[in-house]
Amino acid sequence: LWTPANIIDDAVARVREQVGTDKVLLGLSGGVDSSVVAALLERAIGEQLVCVFVDTGLLRWHEGDQVMATMARNMGVNVIRVDAAERYFAALAGVEDPEAKRKIIGRLFVEIFEEESAKLTDVKWLAQGTIYPDVIESAGAKTGKAHVIKSHHNVGGLPEHMKLGLVEPLRELFKDEVRRMGVELGLPREMVYRHPFPGPGLGVRVLGEVKPEYVELLQQADHIFIEELRAQNLYDKTSQAFAVFLPVKSVGVVGDGRAYEWVIALRAVETIDFMTAHWARLPYEFLEHVSRRIINEMRGVSRVVYDISGKPPATIEWE
Ligand code: XMP
Repeated sequence: LWTPANIIDDAVARVREQVGTDKVLLGLSGGVDSSVVAALLERAIGEQLVCVFVDTGLLRWHEGDQVMATMARNMGVNVIRVDAAERYFAALAGVEDPEAKRKIIGRLFVEIFEEESAKLTDVKWLAQGTIYPDVIESAGAKTGKAHVIKSHHNVGGLPEHMKLGLVEPLRELFKDEVRRMGVELGLPREMVYRHPFPGPGLGVRVLGEVKPEYVELLQQADHIFIEELRAQNLYDKTSQAFAVFLPVKSVGVVGDGRAYEWVIALRAVETIDFMTAHWARLPYEFLEHVSRRIINEMRGVSRVVYDISGKPPATIEWE
């Protein structure tokens, strides 16, 4: 019988049998899959689990702190947080091309993860949040951009020289099953049912060159948008929603003066499979309210636009 509780018991028993008293390493990203693996392994092997969380500085508003609060403080998971924002910004300086940015972000992740794991002694296993669709995807010859990054972050992220065995307790599960497991394991619903977030994070939502001040503005605008979607009960009705930072200056009025500031685009889509998508028909009043909040509460943004492109021909992300 498939119930989340049964699947968890079964997975716990299998992991214990597989790793015995060995130490297990897990890369925590803040996403659903790796969080569920962490919660599961915490239940199965407790202190034998060591997580490395690379905070790239390209995560959502306060997301790094939230990951630590949820996983380390509340669930008691052993997490090493690496504050790598400066390294990411340095590596991305002057780089405008989207695919070049993706490569840099992916490569740096592997590099930092390897550095951190090299500091750990007697780790024998690497746990990964691979789920069934990832297995299918890597078996095929797909070359979509999502797949390229997934290969860094999930399926192929095993540092060659470490020769670790793989622990992949979600390998046979679909996303909705993983989510139900997450709730059963005590992860917050809000985290488990979060919209998807791309591996390269805000690195592909700041168009062109990524600068710390752009990322900060984007985080604030995105936070306001998401907060309002949740407050108006629209979050679960959209499949994915986020803000995009446009490195374009536009004129606006501030008090008696004239402002010449940045532009924020809002993107919200409805989709089943993310291969095609419709732009979300959010109420005009709602969009107006979000736009006002962003311009009034933030400094440095003078204009907000809403993306009304479908996929195809546009993609969901802007880069
Ligand atoms: P697009 O923009 O291709 O996005 O319509 C489809 C879905 O994939 C996500 N996405 C990515 N995920 N690495 C990821 O892990 C990436 O490089 C990447 N690019 C897009 C996007 O957020 C959407 O859910």
